[in-house]
Amino acid sequence: MTKLRVHNFAISLDGYGAGPNQDRNEPLGVGGEALHNWFVATRTFQQISGKEGGTTGIDDDFAARSFTNIGAFIMGRNMFGPIRGPWPDDNWKGWWGDNPPYHAPVFVLTNHPRALVVMDGGTTFHFVTQGVHAALQRATEAANGKDIQLMGGASTIRQYLRAGLIDEMHFAIAPILLGSGEHLLAGIDTPKLGYRCTEHVTTANATHVVLAKGS
Ligand SMILES: NC(=O)c1ccc[n+]([C@@H]2O[C@H](COP(=O)([O-])OP(=O)(O)OC[C@H]3O[C@@H](n4cnc5c(N)ncnc54)[C@H](OP(=O)(O)O)[C@@H]3O)[C@@H](O)[C@H]2O)c1
Repeated sequence: MTKLRVHNFAISLDGYGAGPNQDRNEPLGVGGEALHNWFVATRTFQQISGKEGGTTGIDDDFAARSFTNIGAFIMGRNMFGPIRGPWPDDNWKGWWGDNPPYHAPVFVLTNHPRALVVMDGGTTFHFVTQGVHAALQRATEAANGKDIQLMGGASTIRQYLRAGLIDEMHFAIAPILLGSGEHLLAGIDTPKLGYRCTEHVTTANATHVVLAKGS
C-alpha cells in the first residue's frame, strides 16, 4: 500500500522548519539555510547536485532513504518558490533549474490555479487547488504503487499530520536556533494522533528522529 513519507525535513532546536521573511534571496527564511548544513554535506546531496565527494555514514544513510521507492511528491506552494498570491505569469518553475531532482510527478498545493509545468528529466509540476486530500489522491494514482514523499514546508506537513495521513516522518534537528519563522509541531498533539518515536541517533551535524504510527 502506498505510504506518505517525510524525509530530511530539518528543524531548528526551537522547532522551526524555516526562518522568517522567506523571499527570493532567503528561500528558507532568514537564518534558515543553516538547517540544511547536515544534508548539503552528504554524498547523497552532492550526487544529486552532479558533484563528487560528500560525507558517508549516518547523515548520508538518512539522506539516501528519501530516494527509495518514491513515485510522486507533494509540496506546498511556498516551498515551490517565493511568489505569493496569483501567479503573474508562467515564468517561475521552481528553485531547481530545468532538470529538478524529482524525476516524477510533483503535486504543488496552492489556492491559485496554474497549468501543468513539464520539466526535463521526468519532473512534472501539477498545481492542486482542491486541498490536501485531493493532492494525496492524485499523488497516489501517479505513484503507481510506490510511496509518496511529502516535502514540506511546515504548513503542508502540519495539515497532513493533523489529518493523520502521514505514515512516517524523518526529522533532522539542526543545532541552531531560529527564534521565529514556520514552526512545525506547535499545537499539534502528535501522541494523540498515534505517532511515536521509532528511531533517534545523533551525529555531529544533526539529531535524526523518525516518528511513525505505531501501537
Ligand atoms: N526545513 C526543511 O527541511 C524544509 C523542507 C521543505 C521546505 N522548507 C522551507 O519551508 C518554507 C515553506 O514552508 P511554509 O510553511 O511557509 O509553506 P508551504 O507549506 O511550503 O506552502 C504553504 C502555501 O501552500 C499553499 N497551500 C498549502 N496548503 C494548501 C491547501 N490545503 N490548499 C490550497 N493551498 C494550500 C498556500 O499558498 P497559496 O495560498 O499562496 O497558494 C500556502 O500559503 C520555505 O522556506 C521552504 O524553503 C524547509
